[in-house]
Amino acid sequence: MPAIRSSAPADLPRLRGTSPAMEQLRKRLAQVAKTPLPVLISGETGTGKEAVARSIHELSGRTGPFIPVDCAALSMQLVETELFGHERGAFTGANQRREGLVHAARGGTFFLDEVGELPMETQTRLLRLLEAGTYRPVGDQGERRADIRVLAATWRDLRKGITEGRFREDLYHRLSIVELRVPPLRERVEDVDELFEHFVVESCAQAGRAPPALEPAVRVHLRRWPWPGNVRELRNVAQYVGAMTPGARVTMNDLPPGLMRPPPELPDTALPMVFPASEIRIDLPYMEARRLFLDDFQQRYVEAVLAAHDNNVSGAARAAGMDRRSIQRIQKRARTGGREP
Ligand SMILES: Nc1ncnc2c1ncn2[C@@H]1O[C@H](COP(=O)(O)OP(=O)(O)OP(=O)(O)O)[C@@H](O)[C@H]1O
Ligand SMILES: [Mg+2]
Repeated sequence: MPAIRSSAPADLPRLRGTSPAMEQLRKRLAQVAKTPLPVLISGETGTGKEAVARSIHELSGRTGPFIPVDCAALSMQLVETELFGHERGAFTGANQRREGLVHAARGGTFFLDEVGELPMETQTRLLRLLEAGTYRPVGDQGERRADIRVLAATWRDLRKGITEGRFREDLYHRLSIVELRVPPLRERVEDVDELFEHFVVESCAQAGRAPPALEPAVRVHLRRWPWPGNVRELRNVAQYVGAMTPGARVTMNDLPPGLMRPPPELPDTALPMVFPASEIRIDLPYMEARRLFLDDFQQRYVEAVLAAHDNNVSGAARAAGMDRRSIQRIQKRARTGGREP
């Protein structure tokens, strides 16, 4: 894996999501973007840490490039020369002088991804860069000024790194003057619909086809899924759905098989525990939230009672004290994606 990835403006994603957590993040992001302060962006894998870093860069008004560096992918031997460059003859094989990534980021933003992976000696140099705004290429005696904004991201708890002697405490304090936490998707269930639809539309547009509509049961399932891989996992699922759905509607059968298993780390019996928080949509007006909730209840009730009676509608109707036509209507509504047949 290369340590430096493409930073073309074309891959600048718009930060989507209108959940209170996302609005709050966007507000703080806009506040800090214009300052020269370092920012520590924390969050689980796939939550959008790099997307946040790119947004800060875009809003900062800095005209230089955005240079993302994956600290976990840098080779331990070469990390210092990769970051700070080296002089000719600095070590065997250094036939000519080479500029480092700090130089590449001048006038722009230097994004240290997985900063917790940096070796201790490199952390010392980074601290100097943050405090004095200077650095020294390997084998060079003179200090150089660096006009860069430093952003860093971590999924690890750096405080744990400090107690375990893997991370410098002074560097942590310097980096985390501003800390932005990107919440996991399960803490902002309200964003699932918008993000999923966005990625389905995007993948269908690339394939030149009309995006399929999501059935209500699918929406409910997606909102209930805990998304351990966060937005990245959701994007992958949406791309699968966009590419693989044969019809105009996405049914439960069109979801990837991995999503149909009980959610990871949640035993089957724990499932109902996650229902209320994700299903009572206090982000919607009462009548709409009530309709969604009741539609979902009807569908799940009918599905379950049918399953218990080998899909025999008469038997299910008798057991549930419903009439056959009601059951058929609810089944049909599930198939047509929520519209009254
Ligand atoms: N709020 C968002 N709106 C739109 N796209 C998003 C959002 N958050 C993340 N993404 C997209 O999800 C994918 C994963 O995001 P990103 O790479 O920023 O996550 P990360 O936290 O850096 O992940 P990792 O910890 O694995 O490095 C990217 O394609 C990104 O564009
Ligand atoms: Mg990342």
